Amino acid sequence: MIPLFDLTRQYKEIKEEIINAIDNVLSSGRVILGPEVEKLEKTIADFIGVKYGVGVANGSDALVIALRAMGIQEEDKVITTPYTFFATASSIVRNKGIPIFVDVDKETYNIDLNQVENVLKKEKVFGIIPVHLFGRTVNLEDLNFLKEKYGIKILEDCAQSIGSEGIINNTVKKSGSIGDASIFSFFPTKNLGAYGDGGLIVTNDENIYQNAKSLRVHGTKKKYFHDEIGYNSRLDELQAAILNVKFKYIKKWTEKRIEISKKYAKEFEKRKLDLKYPKTSGKLKVHVFHQYVVEFGSNEKREKVKRHLASKGIGTSIYYPVPLHLQNCFKYLGYKEGSLPVSEKLSKTTLALPIFPELSFEEVEIIVDEIEKALRR
Ligand SMILES: Cc1ncc(COP(=O)(O)O)c(C=O)c1O
Repeated sequence: MIPLFDLTRQYKEIKEEIINAIDNVLSSGRVILGPEVEKLEKTIADFIGVKYGVGVANGSDALVIALRAMGIQEEDKVITTPYTFFATASSIVRNKGIPIFVDVDKETYNIDLNQVENVLKKEKVFGIIPVHLFGRTVNLEDLNFLKEKYGIKILEDCAQSIGSEGIINNTVKKSGSIGDASIFSFFPTKNLGAYGDGGLIVTNDENIYQNAKSLRVHGTKKKYFHDEIGYNSRLDELQAAILNVKFKYIKKWTEKRIEISKKYAKEFEKRKLDLKYPKTSGKLKVHVFHQYVVEFGSNEKREKVKRHLASKGIGTSIYYPVPLHLQNCFKYLGYKEGSLPVSEKLSKTTLALPIFPELSFEEVEIIVDEIEKALRR
């Protein structure tokens, strides 16, 4: 059995620290919005290289609250990718905005910024939500260029990319450092995952920071005085304490993920397998491999490999089987099959393979062996 993701192996390694952290919180009696949340907010903001952090209940809420804190108005248009988790786009509609889906690049699977610019030339939009998908940084230089040239807002969706890097003006920057605001998810499977839900907004903008802080507690800056109607979206102290422990390992765990990705690549190259896998080079962590996603030449091949791996007890997953522009709930937007061909093709041909820091090289070899067997059948 090789699972797609395994939380228990990591827990064995850090159990004592986690239990201590939980005990400290419970013994303190402070379980909502206390010192652990404040510590995490500061730690993540510093790590990304921005001024402020606001812990919230989950990454989906972080998107909704950040967009609203940035000033989105009813019917504002927001560009995003159809090849992402649902929450990226639903955050626009939950703010009564209109999503504009732009197709992704066929190599990086990230939103195609040339196509974004074509939209910006024609339409007035509030902003863009780029997603650093599977942990690969969107080209930050190009993103920044669009932000400055068209005066649009940027909300970076870093739910899958904590610690990933890019370059602007020859300077290394983290994903999440150039948006007007950026969000993170601490869903348990994420590279930095809680033992439950959690999310965070970061920003350099004091106004966005104050708005987000107020929105997470029902629109109050002063308790029981409501300036607007917000949400109940607080990060638990327990989850923050767990994340503060886990954060110490994020560098090591990210490096392990990158090593595993290199091992996969080496095995695929050696066997000359008929599939496409993520290519990265250099020292920069352009990709932190939240997911390791490979692409097959056809849907039949993908299904064949998936079935074979399942029969051998190897976990895989399809991210994402239906691109967002073709979801039932977005039918009213008028997209049809064929509108965004790259995303549509990827949804039929890609497969996520196991990757997590505790996965061994031997397991990678077994997985690749089995893929080879399936492909040669
Ligand atoms: C790209 C992306 N955006 C947003 C989210 C939402 O985060 P959460 O599950 O914490 O609400 C996720 C994760 O699930 C995600 O992968």
